[in-house]
Amino acid sequence: MYFIRSVGLSALAAGLVSGTSINDPGVVARQACSASVDELVGYGSGTTGGGSGTGTTVTSCAELASAAKVGGVIKISGTLTGCDIIDLKADTTVLGVGANSGLANGGFRVRRTGNVIIRNLNFHNPPEKKDLISLDQATQVWIDHCDFSSEGITGDKDRFDGLLDVTHASDFVTISWNKFHDHWKGSLVGHSDNNGDEDTGHLRVTYHHNNWSNVNSRLPSVRFGTVHVYNSCYEGTETSAVNSRMGAQVLVEGSSFTNTHLAVVTDLDSKEDGFATERNNLFVNSDTRITQAGSLKPPYAYTADDASCVCSVLASQAGTGIIG
Ligand SMILES: *[C@@H]1O[C@H](CO)[C@@H](O)[C@H](O)[C@H]1NC(C)=O
Repeated sequence: MYFIRSVGLSALAAGLVSGTSINDPGVVARQACSASVDELVGYGSGTTGGGSGTGTTVTSCAELASAAKVGGVIKISGTLTGCDIIDLKADTTVLGVGANSGLANGGFRVRRTGNVIIRNLNFHNPPEKKDLISLDQATQVWIDHCDFSSEGITGDKDRFDGLLDVTHASDFVTISWNKFHDHWKGSLVGHSDNNGDEDTGHLRVTYHHNNWSNVNSRLPSVRFGTVHVYNSCYEGTETSAVNSRMGAQVLVEGSSFTNTHLAVVTDLDSKEDGFATERNNLFVNSDTRITQAGSLKPPYAYTADDASCVCSVLASQAGTGIIG
């Protein structure tokens, strides 16, 4: 079913040395994985959320709903079930306490506002037909060290919507060190082929150090936007992983793909193709189909780890319970 294309490690290392670091001044290539796990990098840089105060700790949906109306720093202790979708306002940080806090059958929406940080939370099962997190006309958002999942790739694919969707000209977003797993529709950037007037020139998102496993599609799927994916680990995708559509510009680098059908693709599902560049990735039993070469050069400084150690680093450093 899959094409087989593996990149030897020595070729990969040579590519990092002669390609990435010299041709692109924004990137410093690293031979071993040593990325800082507690740093905001990428398009979401500058997001400060609710600042550094102690904040309010909440242990029920009612307390969370009240705290969300105030903003600032909100700490969720334990798993809150059935909160539905809670709107977050500007200048808010939501943090989980310990490794086992979060929402079940609930989620967050950031709509027509910005400067929001969401970290260290487990999100399991959105309310039916909804997203776990949706960003809608949202700017400056950082989502980091969270765990997103539902019941797996079984049953009705439309029972739940996305794990983390970025739509309606949302902009300046970083999504880092998360685990996305066991779900049909992962992360959609740009919701419709017909929304170019609003979305073109926006939807700038960095995805780095994310661990994707057993997600069927949209890892992410991008229409119109500008998306940089680096140092991520993928396995078990049967439909497609990074899907660039409707003239989107996507750069995928330093990532590891195993048993991933269409790891990077530009001609699926939309009226127009997208653009993509892939470099320094590791493909094992995985294929790509790029019809239009991309030109994205990220405007920020970042350091790309070597694809060969990304999966092992993410196994211990992604998801909840890592940051304090
Ligand atoms: C990370 O993803 C890989 C495959 O992409 C999966 O095998 C592994 O279990 C995941 N690790 C964790 C800690 O979730």
